Amino acid sequence: MKRYIVTVCILVISVTFVFAGSHKEVTYQDDIRPLIESQCFMCHGDHAPSLDEFDAEQEKYENRNIGPRMATYEEVKVFVTGDDAGAIMRSLDDGSNTADGNPGNMYEYLGRTDEARQKNLSVFKEWVGHWTLKRSDELTDEDIKKFSIPE
Ligand code: HEC
Repeated sequence: MKRYIVTVCILVISVTFVFAGSHKEVTYQDDIRPLIESQCFMCHGDHAPSLDEFDAEQEKYENRNIGPRMATYEEVKVFVTGDDAGAIMRSLDDGSNTADGNPGNMYEYLGRTDEARQKNLSVFKEWVGHWTLKRSDELTDEDIKKFSIPE
């Protein structure tokens, strides 16, 4: 009987570990980069201007429907915690956190169906770790500690 209990305990512990391990961390390389490549690159890819170039001639680029480049980890990070902090969150939010209740203007590009958009939004949310729509000058030290954004 004792041995049976020990066996059951070991089994339960092993199964718990397998399930805990199966939830892999969301990273830029494995999850966000491929997502941006398929959903955002046509306007934010290698051909797009750097954020500085974009800011300098915003109207010209907007008329051509081209946004600032988001082709590397560093380039994307700027829109989460950098100079343009919260831009990713403000533009991808589905309306749950925006002041007017409308989705951000890039939300539609997250997928073709609402199901796909919600699924991809949850990947972005998990990666960011702290879904605040605040701008860089509104972020507190507490906010900054809560961001995740693994490379
Ligand atoms: C059809 C073109 C197009 C697609 C696709 C697109 N964007 Fe954009 N994006 C733009 C343009 C143009 C702007 C600049 C004008 C504006 O802010 O609306 C922009 C602006 C942004 C900004 C704000 C930058 C700033 O400086 O405030 C973010 C963040 C952003 N896009 C993220 C994304 C993400 C993430 C995706 C993919 C899910 C995406 N966009 C897909 C065209 C696009």
